[in-house]
Amino acid sequence: MSLHSSEASQQWDDQAATSHVLKPGELDLSHKVILYLEDISVSFDGFKALNNLSLTIDAGELRCIIGPNGAGKTTMMDVITGKTRPESGSAFFGQTLDLTRLSEPEIAHAGIGRKFQKPTIFESHSVFENLELAMKTDKRVRRSLFAVLADGQRDRVADMLRQIRLAEQAERPAGLLSHGQKQWLEIGMLLMQEPKLLLLDEPVAGMTDDETERTGELFKSLAGKHSLVVVEHDMAFIEQLGGKVTVLHEGAVLAEGDLATVQNDQRVIEVYLGR
Ligand SMILES: Nc1ncnc2c1ncn2[C@@H]1O[C@H](COP(=O)(O)OP(=O)(O)OP(=O)(O)O)[C@@H](O)[C@H]1O
Ligand SMILES: [Mg+2]
Repeated sequence: MSLHSSEASQQWDDQAATSHVLKPGELDLSHKVILYLEDISVSFDGFKALNNLSLTIDAGELRCIIGPNGAGKTTMMDVITGKTRPESGSAFFGQTLDLTRLSEPEIAHAGIGRKFQKPTIFESHSVFENLELAMKTDKRVRRSLFAVLADGQRDRVADMLRQIRLAEQAERPAGLLSHGQKQWLEIGMLLMQEPKLLLLDEPVAGMTDDETERTGELFKSLAGKHSLVVVEHDMAFIEQLGGKVTVLHEGAVLAEGDLATVQNDQRVIEVYLGR
């Protein structure tokens, strides 16, 4: 009985998701922009880590952020995820979600996933179990439908294992993976939550060249369905990704465009690439 009513409400949810009327909290991408930052400033003891930073990310975009140490790249991610509150400026997710008024968990739940440099996987659990655990925080999975969804959930984990190239490692304890494989697992765990925007801070640091290239292929395959903001210092990797590049310097945008354009920008060469 409960199964039928749950199925009915699931159908209703599916219909609502495809209609033009937004549900409360649903992301409004009607202007094709997923993230707006305008005039964001953050100070630490009088030092401006972000200085009137303005930045726009389109839905489905794969954006690279580069810039010297201390430019404010990580601080920018802290503002987007609600970890740091800006002292001024506005930050919107889609047209309507004001990030400066949401808590960190609310922002994560709204669809912004963040990958920190150090993986936070469960080392003693298998790779499969790690992905399974990541999925269980999915609020949309109704308990009454659990038995029905179990097969579908297993399929989702299996698909993710293939996508992050860990299918052959599924039963291994995550602690035994290589550094690069652990990074992929954590990206897979983030993806199980189906974030609309993914923030990745130096994702290929410490990876082998081969792992770095595979990570680039993965990110390129994610763009479109997801929007990605990738902070990196590895220029070969940024070239592989091929997206628009934003150069941050002293807490603001110094230059923006394709990689060749910013690489030939004299100001960018002076503060970053020429060193
Ligand atoms: N919590 C904090 N308290 C004080 N100062 C901070 C804090 N977080 C960042 N800063 C300072 O703000 C500036 C910007 O730091 P941020 O970490 O955003 O730079 P970044 O561009 O990510 O650099 P990197 O490439 O080295 O990771 C730095 O000068 C840093 O020391
Ligand atoms: Mg940083």
